[in-house]
Amino acid sequence: MRISVFGLGYVGSVTAACFAKVGHEVIGVDTNAEKVGMVNAAMSPVVEPGLGVVLAEVVEARRLRVTISSEEAVRNTDLALICVGTPGRANGHLNVDAIERVGREIGQALRSRPDPYTVVLRSTVLPGTTERVLVPALLAGARRKAGPWLRLAVNPEFMREGSSLRDFAHPPFTLVGCPDPETASLLRWLYAGVDAPFVHTAVRTAEMIKYVSNAFHALKVSFANEIGDVCEAFGVDAQEVMRIFLMDRKLNVSEAYLRPGFAFGGSCLPKDLRALLHAALSADVSLPLLSAILPSNEAQIRRGVEAVLGARKRRVGVIGLSFKPGTDDLRESPMVALVENLIGKGCDVRILDRNVSIARLVGANRRYIEEEIPHIASLMCENVETLLAHAEVLVIGNTSEEAALALAAIGPHHVVIDLTRGAVRPSSTPSMEASWREEFSDFDSAFSPSSSSRSP
Ligand SMILES: NC(=O)c1ccc[n+]([C@@H]2O[C@H](COP(=O)([O-])OP(=O)(O)OC[C@H]3O[C@@H](n4cnc5c(N)ncnc54)[C@H](O)[C@@H]3O)[C@@H](O)[C@H]2O)c1
Repeated sequence: MRISVFGLGYVGSVTAACFAKVGHEVIGVDTNAEKVGMVNAAMSPVVEPGLGVVLAEVVEARRLRVTISSEEAVRNTDLALICVGTPGRANGHLNVDAIERVGREIGQALRSRPDPYTVVLRSTVLPGTTERVLVPALLAGARRKAGPWLRLAVNPEFMREGSSLRDFAHPPFTLVGCPDPETASLLRWLYAGVDAPFVHTAVRTAEMIKYVSNAFHALKVSFANEIGDVCEAFGVDAQEVMRIFLMDRKLNVSEAYLRPGFAFGGSCLPKDLRALLHAALSADVSLPLLSAILPSNEAQIRRGVEAVLGARKRRVGVIGLSFKPGTDDLRESPMVALVENLIGKGCDVRILDRNVSIARLVGANRRYIEEEIPHIASLMCENVETLLAHAEVLVIGNTSEEAALALAAIGPHHVVIDLTRGAVRPSSTPSMEASWREEFSDFDSAFSPSSSSRSP
């Protein structure tokens, strides 16, 4: 394929060299004449292990050349990869001037081109930038309306300086955000030699994933460093702690606890976090990241309360009172905090929670409900119909069977505040028994006496 690469910094020079290495014909473009001269002389414009060797090979083989002319690069290629810098100001504001400028230049070069051209944005940009900045710049440069002549995709990359060549060949995934399957197919073909799952998604999702990934990486580094600090203060070997911590691929390094939803609670997480923070404080260890977790959690509860109050209706039906479905434990439940806030603001609240109601009947959590939160106990409903008959606003607090039933039965007059953020799908048939059976089938097979004789 004939490819142009705009911006020959860390990302662009590695991208250009790697695509040329696998046989594509690549033209690099940079405004910096010094970089252009260096690459054309087969010298790496950045310090990156292995890049010099690959550049020497592909420049020698005439599969990569570099120019300062955008027009020349676009005229002689069918696809452009934009890898220009997107520097941040001190206040965090992202400067996307270079994206705008490159977009205009590519657009200008496409003014009278009859056959389609594909523009792929590799630089890191905030969600919406492609639509708000790049597309208008391309159309303004071309003086054309959007149409089949222009194909567009976002393709963030996940290379790390120092191991870019290896990361280019083995990324966690090849991520492409574009609206049409044709462009996705083209990029799937372009990346056919790359050893990674191909993920096609919406443009804004692809833009966002890069930020989520980098924010999470930063969070992980700071988390590990704070754990290192607190271990040192307690006289514990931090490397050994983290080595063992990382062995848990079920709860620690896994999908667990990484779904957007509502605040955490229960009898362990808040208590244990407070104990750790208190002990660290007593040892004069500062833990700004860990200290921010409980305030962040409280902000989620406030956000939920504000969403309900924002509906400007008094009668509220809440599904789920315990801190997660499948338990009757109300200790530190964020749903209890939410309900108490709503009552305090004058809302007329009813609550449905199968486990908590059963607990009241058999007495498992009875003392807590009747002695600690009697004002809430009296608000419990017995079924979805009663709750919906009362409620103007329905709050989905967990992913229980009742939540699915209620969502299937709501009327046009009900306002729904879904604290699970879409984790519950409306269902008119009870499914809990089935999901329990599924969940415990592993348990059964692991512990049943005949399990060892079962064939896989
Ligand atoms: N460095 C990394 O490891 C890394 C990793 C992932 C993503 N990113 C993202 O990739 C993008 C590029 O990062 P980088 O580190 O390679 O940037 P860089 O600053 O090293 O290089 C950017 C290059 O773009 C050139 N440029 C600027 N305006 C231009 C224009 N109008 N036409 C042609 N060239 C132009 C500059 O001269 C420079 O050589 C950024 O959005 C960055 O956030 C970087």
